[in-house]
Amino acid sequence: KAPGQFEVPLPIPPVLKPTRSDGGTDYYEITQKIAKVEIIPGLATTVWGYNGIFPGPTIDSRSGRRIVVRHRNELPVPTSTHLHGGHTPSDSDGYPLDLVMPVAGAVHQSGHGSHGTMKPTKVSDGAKDYVYPQDQRAATLWYHDHRMDFTGPAVYRGLAGFHILRDDAEDALPLPRGEHEIPLMITDRSFADNGDFLYPARDNTGRSPGVKDDFDLGVLGDVILVNGAPWPVLEVDAVRYRFRLLNGSNARRYRLRLDKGETSPFVQIGSDGGLLERPVRRKAITMAPAERYDVVIDFGRYKPGTELTLLNELGDGSTGKVMKFRVARTARDESSVPGRLSQFEKLDPAKAVRTRDFSFERGDEHTWTINGRTYAPGKIFARPRIGEVEIWNLDIDGADHPVHLHLDQFQVLGDDERAADPGLKDTVGLTAGQKTRIIVRFTGYEGRYMLHCHNLEHEDMGMMADYEVSS
Ligand code: C2O
Ligand code: CU
Repeated sequence: KAPGQFEVPLPIPPVLKPTRSDGGTDYYEITQKIAKVEIIPGLATTVWGYNGIFPGPTIDSRSGRRIVVRHRNELPVPTSTHLHGGHTPSDSDGYPLDLVMPVAGAVHQSGHGSHGTMKPTKVSDGAKDYVYPQDQRAATLWYHDHRMDFTGPAVYRGLAGFHILRDDAEDALPLPRGEHEIPLMITDRSFADNGDFLYPARDNTGRSPGVKDDFDLGVLGDVILVNGAPWPVLEVDAVRYRFRLLNGSNARRYRLRLDKGETSPFVQIGSDGGLLERPVRRKAITMAPAERYDVVIDFGRYKPGTELTLLNELGDGSTGKVMKFRVARTARDESSVPGRLSQFEKLDPAKAVRTRDFSFERGDEHTWTINGRTYAPGKIFARPRIGEVEIWNLDIDGADHPVHLHLDQFQVLGDDERAADPGLKDTVGLTAGQKTRIIVRFTGYEGRYMLHCHNLEHEDMGMMADYEVSS
C-alpha cells in the first residue's frame, strides 16, 4: 500500500554527542546494526542503520578539530565507512576492501562474513576507529557504506548519515541558523507489502553482488523519502531557511522546483565543498546522486497558510513530488544572505602540470567501466603528486554518471555547452554524452584513493578506479 503524501512531519536526524573529548580530539561511537523503524505509517521496516536509524545520526563538528569515530559492526556483513567529501588519511578513507568484520556472532547469522573472490586489504575485527583530522573548510559532508561490490544494497538499507563541518568564517555570516537550518537527505526507495525495502538483488542471500537485469542503469524506487520519511511536510516560520540538500539516492537524479511563488526561489549559497563565493539565484536545483546544494528559501514572501510543494521535475507520478512546506506563522527574520559569502583559491588551468583522460562507459554484460576496465582493486590508474595541479577530462557514454573523487575537492571548468560551476565539488553529475574538464590538486595525505561513478549500482558493477597520491 502506498503511503499518503504530506502527512508525516519531516524528521531531523539527531546530532551525535561525543562520548569523550580530550585536548585535541572528540571521540564518537556508532554501532551499525539492524533495527525496525516506522517509515510507512503503521508498518515496520527493517533497516541497516548507523545506531539503528536511517538516516544515521548527524555528526556536527568544527573544521580543524580532529575527531575519531569508532564504528562497531553488528551487521551480518562486513562494512567499510567512507566520509564523503572528507579530506581524510587513506587508512580511514573507507577503501572498499578495508573491511570491518562483524562482531563475533553476528557473522554466523547469514553465513556471509567473507564474500566474493576479493581479498580484503585490511581487516578490523568488530570495530574500527576512523580518524578525521578535518583540516578542510566548513561543508556539508555525509558518511555511508563503501564495501566492495555491495555499496548499493548497503546504502539502500539505510547506511548513510550527515556529517556537517562548521568554521568561524561561516559562523560570522548572518545566514539562517538554529532551527532555521535544516539538512535534507533525499532518497528514493521501493517497499514490499510488509514494509521492508525492496532491493532488486540478483542473489537474495547477499553472497554474490549485482542487481536483476532491468536495473543495470541503477535502482530507482517509487517512494521519495526526505530524512527517511515519505513525502514529509515541514511547518515553517515565514522567514528564511537554510537547507543543506543531499541527494542520497542510489541512482535517481532530481530537478527540484517549488510549485508556486517566486520564479527563482532558491538562493544557492553552497556546494559539495562548502560556501560559494557569492550567492546564485536559481529557478531549480538539479542534483545527481551524492551532490550537495546548500540553499536559502525565503518563506517571508508568503502569508501564513500558504503551502508550497517541492516538486521533482525529472520524476513522474509518485516521484514527481518530494515534500511540502506549510507556512505556519509570521516571525521576525534576523537572517540575511550577504553578497559575499566566502573566498577560495581558483585553480589556474595554465598551472596544470598534466592532463589525464577518463572515459566512463558501459562494459560487457552487467558491467560498467572506466577507461575500458572494470574495477581492479590495487591497479593504479593515476599517480598524482601532492600539490600539483592537474586537469582531468571526463568523457561520458550514453548513460548518466555522477563522477566522484576522494581526498580533495575539485573545480568544474565546464565544456563547450556548459559554464564552469561556481563551487568546490567532489561529485559532478554528468549526463549522457557530456564531456567536461575538472581541475584538481591533491593535498595533505599520501596513499591510495579512488574515483568512481556514484550511481551506486554502476559503482558495484565496476565503475571505479584507484589512484595513488604521493609527494
Ligand atoms: Cu560517496 Cu567513494 O563515495
Ligand atoms: Cu555511472
